Amino acid sequence: MNFQQIEQAVTYLQGKYTKTPRIGLILGSGLGVLADEIEDAVKIRYEDIPEFPISTVEGHAGQLVFGSLSGKEVVAMQGRFHYYEGYSFDQVTFPVRVMKELGVEVLVVTNAAGGVNETYEPGDLMIISDHINNMGSNPLIGPNDNRFGARFPDMSEPYNKELRLIARNVAEKLNIRIQEGVYVGNTGPTYETPAEVRMIRTFGGDAVGMSTVPEVIVAKHAGLKILGISCISNMASGILDQPLTHDEVIETTEKVRKDFLLFVKEIVKNIKVG
Ligand code: HPA
Repeated sequence: MNFQQIEQAVTYLQGKYTKTPRIGLILGSGLGVLADEIEDAVKIRYEDIPEFPISTVEGHAGQLVFGSLSGKEVVAMQGRFHYYEGYSFDQVTFPVRVMKELGVEVLVVTNAAGGVNETYEPGDLMIISDHINNMGSNPLIGPNDNRFGARFPDMSEPYNKELRLIARNVAEKLNIRIQEGVYVGNTGPTYETPAEVRMIRTFGGDAVGMSTVPEVIVAKHAGLKILGISCISNMASGILDQPLTHDEVIETTEKVRKDFLLFVKEIVKNIKVG
């Protein structure tokens, strides 16, 4: 990915939407409905944006939604790009660079994840306190363009402390069951084996998924403040005596959808930007 490609996408988008979004949202599996809550929405399909990767997965709308959420100017990705689909890390993280150049300061990234911590329950929401990159590579490998960020980015606080506090306070106020823990990013598309889940727990992981880590690394490189929220859609492999299915993941995210929407909207209301 080079700066020019980002600029092309940004110029196109600014021609379609003239206000400046300050909060970017990446909406995970089953959580894209949040974009439907955006007011005065301007929707731009990925396929219409120059240089943008094109969405392949069923059930993902594949569009950017600009507009107002809880009184804040936002841009949401309805449908993300996963590494397991065959996209390069450059493609997976391209939208994050675009958001940054559009003026975004805070990135709220969401996902569905398997619960590794045995005290978790399906349907819990988890504030991501930290992550472990278990994807076998890093999206910043290659020549560093200093216009994007530093060669050796600090990762001592990938998920912003103040934003996490806001999220905890909102959960308490709304009486939503909340966890805070470490997200482990695997490539997928296989779910984990029971032995892998035991390894992840020993590593210090509380939840496991197939996204988020590349986007967060690039967002941190770009100097964005990041909040991560996982919807624990199932217990990870081997914890319960039953196989995992994508249907289960979608079913649980549908059940917590109402709480998830309230939660994120109230967080957005409380985030200070611009
Ligand atoms: N493992 C990996 N990714 C996931 C899971 C899981 O158990 N649930 C939802 N995404």
